[in-house]
Amino acid sequence: MKKKFLSLILGAAMTASMMVAPAMAAEAPIDLTGVDVENAKVGISIYKFDDNFMTLYRTELVRYLTEDLGFKEENITVTDGKNDQAEQTNQINNFITAGVDVMILNLVQSSSAPQVTDLCNEAGIPVVYINRQPEEAESDRWESEGIKATYVGADARQSGTFQGEEILETANGGDINGDGKVSYIMVQGDPENVDAQYRTEFSVKALTDAGVEVEELLLQRGDWDQAKGQQIVQDALTQFGEQIEVVFCNNDAMALGALQSIQAAGRVVNEDIYLVGVDALTDALQNIQDGNMTGTVFNDHISQAQTAVNMAVNYLKGEEVAPINMVDYVKATSENAGDILALLQ
Ligand code: GAL
Repeated sequence: MKKKFLSLILGAAMTASMMVAPAMAAEAPIDLTGVDVENAKVGISIYKFDDNFMTLYRTELVRYLTEDLGFKEENITVTDGKNDQAEQTNQINNFITAGVDVMILNLVQSSSAPQVTDLCNEAGIPVVYINRQPEEAESDRWESEGIKATYVGADARQSGTFQGEEILETANGGDINGDGKVSYIMVQGDPENVDAQYRTEFSVKALTDAGVEVEELLLQRGDWDQAKGQQIVQDALTQFGEQIEVVFCNNDAMALGALQSIQAAGRVVNEDIYLVGVDALTDALQNIQDGNMTGTVFNDHISQAQTAVNMAVNYLKGEEVAPINMVDYVKATSENAGDILALLQ
């Protein structure tokens, strides 16, 4: 099955409710003229395989390359960075030795982009960075020095803002106990990652920009991990109990962990506590439909994966590629969780 750019489709779906199917059929595949699809070699490295969202993303990268564009499976190598930058840099060196034509890299540490870019550039291999955005000074350098490197991602400020708006849109705007302020805990991803920094900042900013008073009871890093999310929220519920009105999680994996602890503590989402995540994992969408999560934000791995591959193809065609390529997030609440689920299945 061909999967198309869902943010565009869902954007259309939100304005013109049920126009989903025709929009899906309309998308044209990228023009492959001038690309040696039979022989082109692609090296892909993911920061770690054991990450729910990046697993969906890498599956779509390979599916789109092989099924939709006809690249040969044996010419595509996908490696597990094992959350270890030294290990991943070795894999990148192996890609260079193997003579790949282009790389798609989800760095363990975005701060290593300058070093990795230089390695690839010296070997004459273009690189498409995904998911973990290098610093602006680095992407500026690609442009000013004509280096074949680009970034494909989504602006995490938007996802944070959408999370905050989902809380504002609840019946009591997040102030369940009516004391005039929203008391929350923040379960953060890996703080080296701008996604974690921006979601943390902009979710709360959406509330304060709307003139709402907030109280942060706890901010703790859960490294995008469900088990850590569960533990953090279990401890927080013991410590702060009824005081917690909102649980912000920087991603759905941690929100699903949070939900386990919320239910174990006998609390009821959307009645005496709100819970929001980011990614739109299938389990999260189902929980939103069932009323067990307040909302999430669709981190469109399909559009991101297809854009990343399209940029790699543009490099193979010898075309210029813009240094930054952003895909929109989509707010996911009980109103459209079913539509998004249907599109993902
Ligand atoms: C985020 C995503 C997280 C995690 C992280 C890895 O965009 O929301 O779930 O996958 O990327 O860098």
